[in-house]
Amino acid sequence: MMNAWTRRRLLQGSATMALTALSTTRQSRANTSGGLLELVAAPSPVKLYRDDAAASDLWTYNGMTPGPEIRVRRGDRVRVRLINRLDEPTSIHWHGIRIDNAMDGVAGLTQEPVPPGGAFDYDFVVPDAGTYWYHAHNRSWNQVARGLYGALIVDEPEPAFDRKHDFTLLIDDWRLGPDGTLDLASLGALSDWSHGGRLGNWLTVNGRARPSFSLPAGEACRLRLVNASNARILAIDPTRFGGRILAYDGQALPAPEEPPYAPLLLGPAQRLDLLVTPSEGFLLEELSGDPFPMAAFTVVAGGSGLREAPRLPGAELPEPDLTAARRVTVDMTGGAMGRLGDISYQGRILSGSDFRETRQMWAFNNVANLPAEPLFWAAKGETVLIDTHNDTAFPHAMHVHGHHFRIVERQGSGVNEGRPWRDTFLVGSTQRTRIAFVADNPGKWLFHCHMLEHAAAGMNTWFEVV
Ligand code: C2O
Ligand code: CU
Repeated sequence: MMNAWTRRRLLQGSATMALTALSTTRQSRANTSGGLLELVAAPSPVKLYRDDAAASDLWTYNGMTPGPEIRVRRGDRVRVRLINRLDEPTSIHWHGIRIDNAMDGVAGLTQEPVPPGGAFDYDFVVPDAGTYWYHAHNRSWNQVARGLYGALIVDEPEPAFDRKHDFTLLIDDWRLGPDGTLDLASLGALSDWSHGGRLGNWLTVNGRARPSFSLPAGEACRLRLVNASNARILAIDPTRFGGRILAYDGQALPAPEEPPYAPLLLGPAQRLDLLVTPSEGFLLEELSGDPFPMAAFTVVAGGSGLREAPRLPGAELPEPDLTAARRVTVDMTGGAMGRLGDISYQGRILSGSDFRETRQMWAFNNVANLPAEPLFWAAKGETVLIDTHNDTAFPHAMHVHGHHFRIVERQGSGVNEGRPWRDTFLVGSTQRTRIAFVADNPGKWLFHCHMLEHAAAGMNTWFEVV
């Protein structure tokens, strides 16, 4: 595994590169309203490190990583044809969209995986404005690590910020080898699966190391941060540049808020929309270790007059009724340095060499990976309260498919961010988090850790709304 030293060395490379090749971030956008967007998943060589280093063997949508930004308005229909030119089956999940179950893209649960040479048409309506993303959802630990993801931005019916004031930042944490290309040999390493997941040594924003963005002086701008890492929890301090919070995981707050704690944690798959009104340039830094720059913002003359932050329409989600909730408890166990207990997988208790052979080493309520029976059934419209207790030595980023939930209570955590709507929550070692939502979306939905190695190694279950 990469150590901190390698990480630093590569990051110093990043600073050099930023000086020699400072460029504005490239972004390709695709508007699908009325049309069909083709996303071709295929191997493509992409330079992640310095321009004089070799290209990495990535897997991309339409030859680029991130894939094209899909940009629509609330209530629009999105039509995407996924064409699979990889040599393994794939599918696309539309992370955070309260979607029709058949379009959720979970290979093996909501659809058959799309075989090599095959295609699948996704067709759905987006009910909420906000910052979302899409990514491969078959062998995600492999496919997302190789670059199969992109942004899905849903504008308000009257977009609150115009394009000069609205920036998408897809942040990814890659593991590069000594030659500066994606380290393929370590993909699937058991030590990552049993520890904190695949952590990298090279951060990119929109596929580039430390890109630069131009912001108009004194005008309200929206930064949409998406953590596309397999496993890294990013730490970001918006108070360093006067940033306020517009939205978590796509769902707008009633009004912009000061950060409730700093640095803010942004777990894998989580999103954070920030409001900034720059008077001078600033850096966006990752602060989980030594601070290092992710992106630079330079301030240019404004002109549009957008000085007041526009109001975002708040979330419109059904309020959970805690007095009549179905209560579900999830005890997380397993992993290195954790309490293993009995772990059952496909109906038998694992022991000895089974862990290595099945690659299962984490469990919810002592069960690893998708059991035949769901974690729970809920009647359509019922409130569900899930109490997750993390009895492992690692933090986890838990994602509910098809619904947004409110965080209703945290125990053992110094973080108090109120009761925001989210689709992914972090729970630290030995902590408890309670979430609640109205199960109003019929179908079979995953509940899993978004540290993709943990999901593959057992932290993956499902529930059904009937
Ligand atoms: Cu973003 Cu089941 O995933
Ligand atoms: Cu996890």
